Parts: sequence; C-alpha cells; structure tokens
Amino acid sequence: MASMTVLFILPVMTLAISRPQIPSIFSMSSLLNGTGFRLSPDVQIIVDSSVKNESPTTLDFARTFRGDLLSVASLPYLPEVSQNIDSPRGTEPRPIISLSIDTSLKYTYFNGKPSDEGYELVISENEISLTSSAPIGLWWGTRTILQQVALSASNGSVHFLPLASISDSPGWEIRGFMLDAGRHWFDTKFLADLCTYASFFKLNEFHIHASDNLWNPSFLYGEGNEGWKNLYAAFRFQPPLGSPLEGLVPPIRKNESWTKEEFLNMQESCAHHGVIVVPEIDTPGHSLVINQWKPELMEMGQPDHLNLSYPDTIPTIKSIWDEFLPWFSSTDEVSIGADEYDSSLANDYISFVNEMSDYISFKSGKSIRVWGTYEPSETLSISKNVTIQHWDFPGDTIPIQLLQSGYDIINSEQYFLYLDEKTSEDGQFPQELNEDLIWSGAPAGKGWAPNIFSPTDPTNNTNYDDLHLRGSVMALWCDWGNNATTQLEIYYQLEKSLALFSEKVWSGSGVRENELTKEEFDAVYPILNAAAPGQNLNRVPVPPIRGNVVFEYAKEVRTPFETSFDSIGPPYILTFSVKPSTKYPYTGTLFSGTDSKLHVSNLTFEATGQLYSIGINLPIGELTTVTIRATKEYTYAVINGVEENRYFWTTTMNIWGDYMAVGNMSFAAPSKEIGTDGFEGSIHNISLVIGSE
Ligand SMILES: *[C@@H]1O[C@H](CO)[C@@H](O)[C@H](O)[C@H]1NC(C)=O
Ligand SMILES: *[C@@H]1O[C@H](CO)[C@@H](O)[C@H](O)[C@H]1NC(C)=O
Ligand SMILES: *[C@@H]1O[C@H](CO)[C@@H](O)[C@H](O)[C@H]1NC(C)=O
Ligand SMILES: *[C@@H]1O[C@H](CO)[C@@H](O)[C@H](O)[C@H]1NC(C)=O
Ligand SMILES: *[C@@H]1O[C@H](CO)[C@@H](O)[C@H](O)[C@H]1NC(C)=O
Ligand SMILES: *[C@@H]1O[C@H](CO)[C@@H](O)[C@H](O)[C@H]1NC(C)=O
Ligand SMILES: *[C@@H]1O[C@H](CO)[C@@H](O)[C@H](O)[C@H]1NC(C)=O
Ligand SMILES: *[C@@H]1O[C@H](CO)[C@@H](O)[C@H](O)[C@H]1NC(C)=O
Ligand SMILES: *[C@@H]1O[C@H](CO)[C@@H](O)[C@H](O)[C@H]1NC(C)=O
Ligand SMILES: *[C@@H]1O[C@H](CO)[C@@H](O)[C@H](O)[C@H]1NC(C)=O
Repeated sequence: MASMTVLFILPVMTLAISRPQIPSIFSMSSLLNGTGFRLSPDVQIIVDSSVKNESPTTLDFARTFRGDLLSVASLPYLPEVSQNIDSPRGTEPRPIISLSIDTSLKYTYFNGKPSDEGYELVISENEISLTSSAPIGLWWGTRTILQQVALSASNGSVHFLPLASISDSPGWEIRGFMLDAGRHWFDTKFLADLCTYASFFKLNEFHIHASDNLWNPSFLYGEGNEGWKNLYAAFRFQPPLGSPLEGLVPPIRKNESWTKEEFLNMQESCAHHGVIVVPEIDTPGHSLVINQWKPELMEMGQPDHLNLSYPDTIPTIKSIWDEFLPWFSSTDEVSIGADEYDSSLANDYISFVNEMSDYISFKSGKSIRVWGTYEPSETLSISKNVTIQHWDFPGDTIPIQLLQSGYDIINSEQYFLYLDEKTSEDGQFPQELNEDLIWSGAPAGKGWAPNIFSPTDPTNNTNYDDLHLRGSVMALWCDWGNNATTQLEIYYQLEKSLALFSEKVWSGSGVRENELTKEEFDAVYPILNAAAPGQNLNRVPVPPIRGNVVFEYAKEVRTPFETSFDSIGPPYILTFSVKPSTKYPYTGTLFSGTDSKLHVSNLTFEATGQLYSIGINLPIGELTTVTIRATKEYTYAVINGVEENRYFWTTTMNIWGDYMAVGNMSFAAPSKEIGTDGFEGSIHNISLVIGSE
C-alpha cells in the first residue's frame, strides 16, 4: 500500500483534485505530484486470480467493471480483463488497474463486527491499485473509481483521473432498500436495473416484498358479501406446473408472476453487482392471497389473516417455503414478514415466528427476519435468532429496549424511511425521502443515520456503534396498487432517495470527518445519476444523439414503422398529426415502446397492463395535431395547438376504500414502433424532442 502522506507541492498548472462522491469516502488524500492517471483504450485491468473465491469472483466483478468503465469513461475499447499479473506488458508501459485480494487487510463495521467490504485504492500515474480482503470490497472500490471518472469527465478532464490515496469501508452491514412488489407488479428486468443502480451507491441489499394484497375494508369486511375474493392480492413466485402450490398464482395472475428462471437471473445480476436479494413472503397477516387459494386457512372475520391454530395452516406455510427456499441462493436470510397480526393472539404469533425460524434454519441454514409487531405475551418471547426490522413504535416494541435485551435490529423507521407510491394518506409519506429530515432533522440537528429511530426523543436513539444494530433498509410501499404508478415512476421516487440514503448508511451522521454536506451531495448527485452504468432507467437515447431531436419525420410515415429507440424518458415533447380512417371504435396503436403504448382509441396510454385515457376521440378522416409533453411529474396533450386546454393523463387511486384521489401520470415516450396493432389511417410530421420547451 502506498504511503498516505499528502505531498504539499504546489503544482505548476491547476491539477484536478478528487472530488467528494456518494457515499462519502472514509479517507481520501489527494496526491498532487503528477498529472493524473491517463484513461485511454490501452488501460489493462488485471486481476490477481491466485486467491480462489466463491461466485461472484474477483474476475466476475472485474469483467462487469470493465464494461462499466467503457461506458462511464466513454472509451471505444478496452482490452479484456487479464488474469495474469505477470503478463508481459510490451515495451511501452501501459496503464494498469490491478484488483487484488490481501487477506491481511482487516475491516470492521461500526459495531466492531468484521467486514469484507472495505478497500484500499491508490491512483498513481501509471497504475490504479485496488486491494481488499474479499471480492465484495474490490467491487465497492470499482464503484469509487467509476464515480471519480464521472466527476473528472464532468470537470472537463475526460482523460485524466486525479491522483489519490483512498481507504474506505462501510459503517453498517445492512444497507438496503425494500420494494413492495406484492401490491404492484414489477418485471425482473426492472428489478435487476434497480439493483444495478443502487449498487453504484454501494447499497448491498434489495429486500423484495413479494406477496401482499390491497387493503379495502368494504371488500374485506363488507357484510355478507364475499368481496375479499375479488380484492387484488398477489404472490409473485410462480410455482412450477403440477406443483400442489399452483393455486397460489391463479391463471389471471400468471402474467404478474416471476418464473424461476426469471427470478434466478435477476438475483444473479444483483449478486454480480454486489447486491443480495432478500425475499419476503408475508404471513400470517397480509395473507389474502393464501386465503383466496385456501379459504379454510382464514381467520374468521379477517380475510387477510391466517388462522394459525387451524391444523393445516402452518404446514401450508412451510410447504410454500419448501418450494421457494431453493430459489433464494444469494442470501443467508429471508423475511417472513409477520407484521400487523392480532395482538390478542400474541402466543400463537410468537410460537409461529419461532417455529418458522427453526424450520427455515433446519431446511436451508438461513435465518429469518420479521417486522416489529406488537404482540404482548406474559409467557413467550421471540427467539433472539430472529432479526427484527423496526418500522414503527406500536405498543412496547421500542427499538432501544429490543437492542438492550439483545435483539439484532434493522432500522426501517417509517418517519424517516417510508415512501408510498404517488400519494399518501394525509401527506404522511413524501414522494422522495425528506431531504431536510435526512440532513438535519434528527435530534441535535445532525441528521438521520441508522442509529436514529426518533425525530424528537434522543432517548429512543442508540449509539452508532451499538453491537446489535445491523443497519437500515428504506422502503417504498405500493398501497394503491398497480394503476397508481408506472414502474419508471417508482424509479423517479427512488433515484435520489437511494443516493441520499447511501450516504447515511455508509458513513452515519456526525461520526466521520469526511461525511458529505448537503451542498456537496447536491453538486455531484446529478452527475453521478447520469453516469450510473449498467442500466438505463433514465431512458436516455441509445446510442446517444447529438442535440435534442430523437427523431423527426417530416412527411407521412409508412406504417407500421420501426425506429431505433425503444423508449425515451421524460422530459420530452412528442408531436404528430394523425388521420384515422376507420370508424369507431378505433383499433390500433399510434406509438409503442418498451415502457408504454399510446392507443388511438381515446388517446389511451398503456403501461404495466393498465389503461389511462384522456377521453378524446380523434375525428375520422381529418388531421388532428397532437402535442404530448411529459416530465417526471405529468404527461399532457395539447390538441391542434390550443395551448389553453391541457389534457392531463391521470389515475384515480382508491385510498383505503375511503375516497378516490387523482394523480398525474408520467409516461416514457413510446418510441419503438409507429402505427401498429392494426392501426388504419395516416400519421404525419412526427417529432420526438428531448427537453421541456
Ligand atoms: C507521487 O507521490 C506518491 C505518493 O507519495 C509516490 O508514490 C509517487 O512515486 C510520486 N510520483 C511521482 C511521479 O513523483
Ligand atoms: C473541478 O474540480 C475542482 C476541484 O474539486 C472544483 O473546484 C471545480 O469547481 C471543478 N470545476 C468544474 C468545472 O466542475
Ligand atoms: C381457527 O381454527 C380453529 C381450529 O379449526 C377453530 O377452532 C377456530 O375457531 C378458528 N378461529 C378463527 C378466529 O377463525
Ligand atoms: C438459534 O439457532 C441455533 C441453530 O441455528 C439453535 O441451536 C439455537 O437453539 C437457537 N436459539 C434460539 C434462542 O432459538
Ligand atoms: C420513545 O420512547 C418512549 C418510551 O421510552 C415513548 O413513550 C415514546 O412515545 C417513544 N417514541 C418516539 C417516537 O420517540
Ligand atoms: C395481466 O392480465 C390481466 C388479466 O388479463 C390484466 O388485467 C393485467 O393488466 C395484465 N397485467 C400486465 C402487467 O400486463
Ligand atoms: C372512450 O371514451 C368514451 C367516452 O369517454 C367511452 O364511452 C368509451 O368507452 C371509451 N372507449 C375506450 C375503448 O376506452
Ligand atoms: C385503479 O385501481 C383502483 C383499485 O385499486 C380502482 O378503484 C380505480 O378505479 C382504478 N383507477 C383507474 C384509473 O383505473
Ligand atoms: C397535474 O400536474 C399539473 C401541472 O403541474 C398540475 O397543475 C395539476 O394540479 C396536477 N394534477 C394533479 C391531480 O395532481
Ligand atoms: C407538416 O408540417 C409542415 C411544416 O410545418 C406543414 O406545412 C404541413 O402542412 C404539415 N403536414 C401535415 C400533414 O400536417
């Protein structure tokens, strides 16, 4: 390892200095004695393959890194990763990036437990040397290199990376985010992309809430009706054909479930980006989907609760885990949910949790997590083998008390860390994490960190180095179901939130010297968001375009017509003139893309299988000019240039069966095909331009 001494030699010319990044680096000293590491197509990535490790290996990570470096540094070419550290380098010394394991390096989390996630990074003129005690530490080190590349490039220095010496490691073991994939459908491509994005900010866990139902009292508890049979409920793991569990995913829900292959591929992609998938199958509350399949398991009067004393209930839950535990290969922990069950059935609940803990451990060696739930019992208590994910202060489930009595805790306190789709009852949850709260809202104004549970009462918080505090998972819930948001709108809620969260869960608040300030974060976040490699959730044009015009067809296009752009994210303006030639009801699609479609009929957008119409039917045999403007917050149309009338595409969300709330929809531009699905008529003067004016 190179010396950490900073040389205070004033450079003759202004040299680039490493900039703060997200999350902050524990220790970073700039070395000012050279021009920088030259980023060019002859940079050779070399891994030390003498240490054998489990998948993903150093080589796996190095290969992904190579692809990421090509994209972030905009290089046309890079040699394949070399495994031989002694390979001849030719006569010209080439710049190298070496990744090697040094088992003598020791890192610990704040709570003193050993960690493999730290790394040492020295950027000198001809070599970047990255070392860690394990492949995962190297992986996080590669994220650091890429962020510095993105920041230098934005600083007009595409070709030189500032010289630096870095030593870094995370404060907490669990740095995760949860997505409610039970009430809203997400395909595995989207989930894999979210992992890749989160990984750029060194988050290491993706908690997937994979079964749940909407909550609507008139469906669940309505007198005499059996509305519960029709309330939306879903279980996302598709049981194999012929399995006794097939009924968990009825035919109508098959298109909203993951096959084993899809799930395994997503999980592997996440693992190859350093992110562990922690699945949750929620019982004995939130279990309507199981009761729709086997009504005899239902607790009387509570269609979304299982009756734990019915003889077949626990065997059924075990049979579900038997089937799916082998799918969950990247994690040694799973969540059984276990939230919001009857506190009057505390003993049943506690026995159940303990029985599942033993069972899952016996079957798979994995341990379990539950959500903190108020279950007062005089005689029983939850096993200390179970990690409790705190989210609320119901009854006496006070995290500080649980920690003191020896429970391992994950902080998911809703006050700081919950989002809930597009709208939330009484504005309880914001669209994105509340930045003021995260930077300075907690007691003493230092900002939130995993050791902060209460915004007001310091006695409810613990020390950052509490032995039993494992880390934190932020959560995005989907209480208003499938039609409330598109998949990409979920990304818009998460994109900045994940980055902000990553800072606090890597470094804490008021613990380390180099923690980011809000100003530093705000200065680099947009650059890093745009540079994040391996996914294109922003749906920017690929390949990149010059200027703002994605495409422009002055004349009539011969339909069906295919462009080379799958989908373009907001903000954009899509303009076209259309003359339908058939009679009502119209069939056909004007524009179609990977994220959305625009149907002729009533100018209806389709996304995630849901339809959103502005109820305007175009006149037959006449040209109508339509201008669609979209941002991440809304999408509207203007007809024939009459700007005074803006037709917003909206959704109506059923809020707990209480009232309907209207929300704007943001759609990516469907840009792949024009005039398909049996469209009859003509489309002229089409243009798709990025930007809002
Ligand atoms: C720059 O400083 C580093 C760290 O002190 C040293 O290892 C390296 O040799 C120096 N490079 C040059 C070109 O002087
Ligand atoms: C380049 O980086 C330096 C050092 O952090 C910073 O002061 C400067 O503002 C940056 N310049 C640009 C154009 O971003
Ligand atoms: C639960 O099942 C048991 C055993 O079948 C039954 O006696 C009891 O009434 C059920 N309780 C509820 C609330 O459904
Ligand atoms: C925790 O699990 C271990 C085996 O994994 C078991 O031996 C032990 O009894 C369990 N402890 C409790 C408190 O359940
Ligand atoms: C904090 O803890 C006390 C009990 O120790 C409790 O009364 C209070 O409501 C708690 N809640 C919050 C949000 O601080
Ligand atoms: C799945 O099929 C159902 C029933 O046909 C439909 O209502 C739903 O929108 C489809 N879901 C998706 C994601 O396409
Ligand atoms: C189009 O809108 C009209 C009136 O708003 C409605 O009656 C009709 O059902 C809609 N058609 C479709 C296919 O959505
Ligand atoms: C969306 O779904 C809810 C049920 O959750 C339903 O009440 C509402 O009408 C739907 N909205 C639209 C625009 O289809
Ligand atoms: C939709 O967005 C527009 C433009 O920002 C706004 O005026 C309107 O109130 C929004 N509608 C809803 C239902 O939020
Ligand atoms: C297409 O745009 C041109 C220039 O704005 C205009 O002259 C022409 O009438 C338009 N054609 C149609 C079919 O809208």
